[in-house]
Amino acid sequence: MHQNDIQLKYPDVRLDDLPQHVAIIMDGNGRWAKKQGKPRVFGHKNGVKSVRAVSECAAELGIKYLTLYAFSTENWRRPKYEVNMLMSLLVQTIHQEVTTLNKNNIRLQAIGNLDGLPEKTRKALLEGIEKTKDNTRMTLILALNYSARWELTQAVQNISRDTLEGTLTPDAINDAVFENYLSTKGIPDPEILIRTSGEHRISNFLLWQIAYTELFFLPIFWPEFGANHFIQVIKEFQNRERRYGMTSEQLKK
Ligand code: IPE
Ligand code: IPE
Ligand code: MG
Repeated sequence: MHQNDIQLKYPDVRLDDLPQHVAIIMDGNGRWAKKQGKPRVFGHKNGVKSVRAVSECAAELGIKYLTLYAFSTENWRRPKYEVNMLMSLLVQTIHQEVTTLNKNNIRLQAIGNLDGLPEKTRKALLEGIEKTKDNTRMTLILALNYSARWELTQAVQNISRDTLEGTLTPDAINDAVFENYLSTKGIPDPEILIRTSGEHRISNFLLWQIAYTELFFLPIFWPEFGANHFIQVIKEFQNRERRYGMTSEQLKK
C-alpha cells in the first residue's frame, strides 16, 4: 500500500511520528475461553488470530519491530498438557504462517532461552527464522522461554567472562556496552508496551528495555484484541508527552 492509502485508512494516526518498536504481553487467553465455557487451549488458538491482525496492522503502518511475549520461563509451571499444547500450537502456527510472513515482507526473530525449548518447537522456529531472514518491512520478535531476569543474568555472566579474558575492562561498562550483551542487541527500546487482560504487571518481560517505555494496560482479553485496539493505543501514544526527566517547558523549546 502507498503512504497516501495508509493515511486514508488510518486518518487520525500521524505516520511521521510512529514508534519504532512495540512490545506486547499477550495475556488473557485462558480467561477468554473460560468466559464462554471452553477449555483454555481454545483461547490460545484464538489468540493466534490477534497475533495475525496486530502483525499485519503494525507492518502496514511502518512499525519496524513488534515483540510478542508468547511463553515465559515461568509458564513451564503450568499443567503439562497446556504446555505441550502451546508448544505444538507454535510449531503449527509457524509452519502455517511462513508464506504470509514472506508475502507481507515480515522477518521472524526470537528472544529467550531457545535451547530450553522442545526440539520440534526449536526446529520449527529456526526454520521460520531462516525462511524469512531476508524480509525487510518489519521484524516480528517472539519472546519464547524468555524472562528478563534470565536475560540480565546471562548478560552479567558474559560480561564477567569478557572481563576475565581481558577483552573488556570494568570501567568501560556503560549502558551502551551493557545493551550489547542483551538478546535485544541492536534493536531500539520499545516506545510502547501493551498488556491485555486487565492485569497491571510486567511478569518478567524486558525489564532493562522498558525504562522509559509508555505503558498501556487494556481491560480486554488477548483473543479480543484487534487492529482497532492497536490503532487506539498508537493514537494515545502520540498524545503523550515523553519527558525523560526534563520539564514540559524544556521540551517545547
Ligand atoms: C496468555 O494467556 C498466553 C500465555 C501466557 C501463553 P493466559 O494463558 O495467561 O490466559 P489467562 O491469563 O490465564 O487468562
Ligand atoms: C505473561 O503472562 C507471559 C505471557 C504472556 C507469555 P502470564 O499469564 O504468564 O503472567 P502472570 O502469571 O499472570 O503474571
Ligand atoms: Mg495470564
